[in-house]
Amino acid sequence: MQNIVIAIDGYSGCGKSSTAKAVARKLGYTYIDSGAMYRAATFHFLNQKVDLNNTEEVVKQLKKIHISFKKNPQTGKQETFLNGENVEEAIRSMEVSNFVSEVSKIKAVREDLVSHQQQLGKAKGVVMDGRDIGTVVFPKAELKVFMTADLEIRAKRRQKELQDSGKEVTLEEIIRNLSERDKIDSTRAESPLLRASDAVEVDTSFLGFEEQVDRIVDLANERIGRYTKAYGSNH
Ligand code: DC
Repeated sequence: MQNIVIAIDGYSGCGKSSTAKAVARKLGYTYIDSGAMYRAATFHFLNQKVDLNNTEEVVKQLKKIHISFKKNPQTGKQETFLNGENVEEAIRSMEVSNFVSEVSKIKAVREDLVSHQQQLGKAKGVVMDGRDIGTVVFPKAELKVFMTADLEIRAKRRQKELQDSGKEVTLEEIIRNLSERDKIDSTRAESPLLRASDAVEVDTSFLGFEEQVDRIVDLANERIGRYTKAYGSNH
């Protein structure tokens, strides 16, 4: 079978990460959460009180950031590490969520993280989710998916996720954060959130979780079959 790259892009809170994780599990692929990398960089900049307008300072601080992913042996879940410290919980805070789009606008940050993401996906057999995976990180990905969902439905899902991890945030605050991030992510000069022309759109507003996972797994299996037929097996 040929290993392929699956790029999943879309608006904030469409369920990209949970869907991408489940797709990777079903295919035996590696899941890479590119948003976690932007969040980890944001967490570092907040802690170091970095002036985002000072490019020299941003570049200097970027050199001090080492982001990695490790599976938690107890839960089996992948967690994000910043310079060896587990920041999986910390990077999901509202403080980071409110600041991350500003950090993601910076060219130097994007260049640094995109090159790291390309390195992580070089061997293929990966599912990566984000905003520019099918357009910038892997423009030649064999399968590109663009996920969308109604804003209020997305906000309710995000509220439930936060509640499940013990955080109470009002629906209004979540709607404000999601729509603000959608706006900044879609209108920024550097790699804005765009649907790649060859991406398959999946609207998850009225799809059950299993349904959306199965749709993408079916698409992936069809592409894996097609590329294996054309190029033979690579594993
Ligand atoms: O997927 P997420 O919500 O955890 O991503 C957090 C932020 O990171 C999002 O608001 C925009 C930014 N991001 C990006 O600019 N490019 C990516 N490939 C992934 C995320």
